Amino acid sequence: MGILVRGGTVVNADISRRADVYIEDGSVKAVGAGLEAPGGCEIIDAGGALVMPGGIDPHTHMELPFMGTVASEDFFSGTTAGAVGGTTTIIDFAIPDPQENLIAAYKRCRGWAEKAATDYSFHVAITWWDETVHADMATLVQEHGVNSFKHFMAYKNAIMADDEILVNSFTRARELGALCTVHAENGELVFHLQREIFAKGITGPEGHPLSRPTEVEGEAANRAIRIAQVLNVPLYVVHNSCREAVEAIARARGEGQRVFGEVLAGHLLVDSSVYEHPDFDVAAAHVMSPPFRPKEHQEHLWHALQAGHLQTTATDHCCFCAPQKAAGRNDFTRIPNGTGGVEDRMHVLWHHGVNAGRLTPNEFVAVTSANAAKIFNIYPRKGVIAPGADADLVVWDTKKSRTISAKTHHQNVDYNIFEGMEVQGINTITIANGRVVYRDGDVRTVKGAGRNIERPAYATYYGAMDRQAALHAPKAVHRGEAAE
Ligand code: URP
Ligand code: ZN
Ligand code: ZN
Ligand code: ZN
Repeated sequence: MGILVRGGTVVNADISRRADVYIEDGSVKAVGAGLEAPGGCEIIDAGGALVMPGGIDPHTHMELPFMGTVASEDFFSGTTAGAVGGTTTIIDFAIPDPQENLIAAYKRCRGWAEKAATDYSFHVAITWWDETVHADMATLVQEHGVNSFKHFMAYKNAIMADDEILVNSFTRARELGALCTVHAENGELVFHLQREIFAKGITGPEGHPLSRPTEVEGEAANRAIRIAQVLNVPLYVVHNSCREAVEAIARARGEGQRVFGEVLAGHLLVDSSVYEHPDFDVAAAHVMSPPFRPKEHQEHLWHALQAGHLQTTATDHCCFCAPQKAAGRNDFTRIPNGTGGVEDRMHVLWHHGVNAGRLTPNEFVAVTSANAAKIFNIYPRKGVIAPGADADLVVWDTKKSRTISAKTHHQNVDYNIFEGMEVQGINTITIANGRVVYRDGDVRTVKGAGRNIERPAYATYYGAMDRQAALHAPKAVHRGEAAE
């Protein structure tokens, strides 16, 4: 049975217009004024509200095994919380242990994700290198629809990728038409600073930001960008938190390089004063990497989002409850890194973006879904309301507000980094895969209803890069025989 969403304003990244949306069998069938309701179809009266593409969060970590524990949010609870907040697709991560087979790690994560309520996809991390990794990257791209590989430049002695791994993996990704992504922090410097700060007797969460200053992020972002430039491979820098990283991206983009940048809702709105909180649990709840930054960085991040230097917003949703964070009570380096937000991203972005005059509603759609869909090559299946697209959408009431709190959120974690924030402009209905999964406080998600989304290689930007490479291909100098 189809659904007709009637009487709303459809807001896509390019244009807004009064239109009805008819969906059936999980996809959008028609968008237009005064659509006829086929017999038996459900009619949803949007009542003049906005109708926008469901959010895509391109950076989450559901049930991630990390730093001696496992993230508390699983694929069902996490995608449910996302759906409540208007997010209908996540791109999560399969992270093999060093020496672990890539395909085995990927399949294990695919198994965990089978309980997801909404659609999902996976980046795969390159944490080590040998010929099997080289071969398995091709298998992932060609047989499993993985088109992005993640490199952690931090987390030394765990999953860190050094320059040798970056060069090998970026080169291979180039051959396969895949996108390289990086967590940009200089892991050697972090390791060095952690020990130095601990030795000074700073053992609490306030040591976390001291061990990861913005220069550490800026250096790594710039290094990854320059490596990608030399190897002519597109690059996506995740969770940019500071001016230094954003400047490296803006500079490279200004020089014509294909570099993309993501910003987390948390980094836009939470500052580093949280690490000074007298309650360990509160300070530790904010330990994530890169850390929250001094307030002056936030306006740089907003400006970069407005200017298009940063194209996507995410959450890095990676939840650990207080008893898990307590593993680092006497040593900040042992506090599991991660914070939540998948339920709140769309709301805080609307409130602090659109209501504050920083973003237009169309730009909001661009940075919450359409740009991620384009960069990760699932557009126009995702990220737009148009015939043929997946029926993932939200009905958005710009007048309605909510106060964010861990007491009422649906995320499986005991803390909310946006606690007490009042936001105006929220989804009253979420439709995922053509089904109403949330309506006015009523959560209707179904375990296992989500699907793995395969993402083809060779996104459109690859064509332009190939053309440039061909035009600028180096040539040998031919010297006449006579000269010899
Ligand atoms: O602190 C964080 N961000 N935890 C999740 C892993 C990562 O670095 O993205
Ligand atoms: Zn990271
Ligand atoms: Zn992450
Ligand atoms: Zn010769």
